[in-house]
Amino acid sequence: MKKPKDYIIFPLDVSSREEAGHYIRLLSHEIGMFKVGLELFITCGPAIVKDIHDAGEARVFLDLKLHDIPETVKRAARAAGEMGVRFLTVHCGESMRMLTAAVDGSAGKTGILGVTVLTSVSADDIRSAGFRDEFGSDVTALVAKRAAQAKDAGCEGVVSSGLEVAMIKTVCGADFISVTPGIRPAWDGMKTDDQSRVATPAQAVLNGSDYLVIGRPIRDAKDPVQAARTISEEIQTALG
Ligand code: C5P
Repeated sequence: MKKPKDYIIFPLDVSSREEAGHYIRLLSHEIGMFKVGLELFITCGPAIVKDIHDAGEARVFLDLKLHDIPETVKRAARAAGEMGVRFLTVHCGESMRMLTAAVDGSAGKTGILGVTVLTSVSADDIRSAGFRDEFGSDVTALVAKRAAQAKDAGCEGVVSSGLEVAMIKTVCGADFISVTPGIRPAWDGMKTDDQSRVATPAQAVLNGSDYLVIGRPIRDAKDPVQAARTISEEIQTALG
């Protein structure tokens, strides 16, 4: 049974195993998953995944955004599956074969999440990369197309902006997982930092998000444990 805290993914956006260890000890019992990105994984390797698994029930979201030939991605996904990570990210922009290879490699041991279009990519970037005008003038159309392809390839879900969740659920079905960054609790003053479009935890779960990536509102709070608990309560209330 999914608890409110299980919706929370805390990104370990730090550069050392020691610094990560501080947050792992602090938050293991307050959140559902830790996100390990390229910086930390390149620095620490699989040891960081073991640290998280040893600390408690929180799972690992390995955010490596793989993009390579299908065979290489398949082998990498197999290795991630063997480490027992809950989710692994793969770019959707290459080919259906690459997504299918990731799913095959994972052998059901880790869920593959597609990265549709990075939020740092603008409509101009899409046009200058040579995409058809329909995508250059409407990036959401490209997000929808790639989400549908990820679903067809057997991915468990996608990472998307909160504003795209409803569209993704319509295109791919309610069971297709949507992981949403850009979350800012109202009590934190809705500071946007460098996120351009933000939603509160309650808005995000009501929109259908299955997991919320929440970094700075927890990390920079005076009491990160209390911040995580307050967010869990907000999610609980929103879920009724
Ligand atoms: O909550 P906060 O803005 O601090 O979260 C930042 C984290 O969310 C980083 O790990 C970043 O990679 C991730 N992220 C993001 N925007 C996206 C996708 C992921 O901020 N579109």
